[in-house]
Amino acid sequence: MPSFEVATPGKRYFAKVERGILEKVSYYLPETPGKLFIVTTEDVWRLHGARLARTLARPHSIIFFRGGELNKRLFAVEEMAEQMVACGADRRSLVLAFGGGIVGDMAGFLAASFMRGIPVVQVPTTLLAQVDASIGGKTGVNLVSGKNLFGAFHQPEAVLIDPEVLTTLQDREYRAGLYEVIKCGVIASPRLFEIMFRHSEDVLAKTPAVVDEMISECVRIKAEVVTADEREGGLRRILNFGHTIGHALEAETNYTRFLHGEAVAFGMAAIVQLALLTGDLSASSASDVLKTILQYGPIPSLEDISSERLAMRLAQDKKTVLGQVHFVMPQRIGSVKVVSGVDEQLVLSAIRAALG
Ligand code: GLY
Repeated sequence: MPSFEVATPGKRYFAKVERGILEKVSYYLPETPGKLFIVTTEDVWRLHGARLARTLARPHSIIFFRGGELNKRLFAVEEMAEQMVACGADRRSLVLAFGGGIVGDMAGFLAASFMRGIPVVQVPTTLLAQVDASIGGKTGVNLVSGKNLFGAFHQPEAVLIDPEVLTTLQDREYRAGLYEVIKCGVIASPRLFEIMFRHSEDVLAKTPAVVDEMISECVRIKAEVVTADEREGGLRRILNFGHTIGHALEAETNYTRFLHGEAVAFGMAAIVQLALLTGDLSASSASDVLKTILQYGPIPSLEDISSERLAMRLAQDKKTVLGQVHFVMPQRIGSVKVVSGVDEQLVLSAIRAALG
């Protein structure tokens, strides 16, 4: 099974995609004399903990996180750090992030800050975390004023991806991850887009060959992008396709109605409408992307969402630079460019069209 190298100025590591790798995790842990701390949720541990624990010969403690976007806050990191100290953690300790994107962000940030930084290994258990969040070293928590506003880049020692764990993933969580796969197809892989467009039955049935191909292609793209631009100074911004308007939708609904991937689905639909209005994308490609998004739906209701309020929130996005909102605009399937200075009335019209 494939293995993809991520090479950043500070660290080189592999993201491995392999069925059954959960039972070989100990083989890939760095040799440190310190104790291992597994950060996870009770749900993930109940489903998959036994398979992981069976292979761990070294001393370890399990730190449970309550889960959920609303708990992804600094106080929860502090609580976990206190638990680590109580269980004998020191500078030589190692964190293993075992869960979805929120667990990965929290555990990564815990590792980035505990005693000024200890290593972390990412073992993602949701599709969204496997194809995106676990790779690239973005870690952090939410502030009251916005999502992921407090954090650090902290690259993992390794990312170990076992597609087998997706068999127990809830349907809604799985579909939320599929939108990030569509994103990868639109930004960089016509082949991946074709799979998502034409083989939705296999994708939704979690046919192993298709799932493995989807994950591997996304990990390949993410590894290449992060290797080229760790700190999002340029190329990495393409990974935000659909995210600017998606983040506005998440904030507008207080992070409680939409899963991140679902908000990205809406954001992608809105940007495709915008690209149609600006003439950046052909009508037939736009129609293919919109159809592909729809076939993995539905997402929660958009009925009470105000287009004006969403447009206002764009100005508050953390990626807005000097008041200029940046959008990742599709040019054709597999190619996007980052633009700013788009006419506000066009943005409003595109959001209205996506709201339907
Ligand atoms: N999820 C976008 C990135 O890692 O840059």
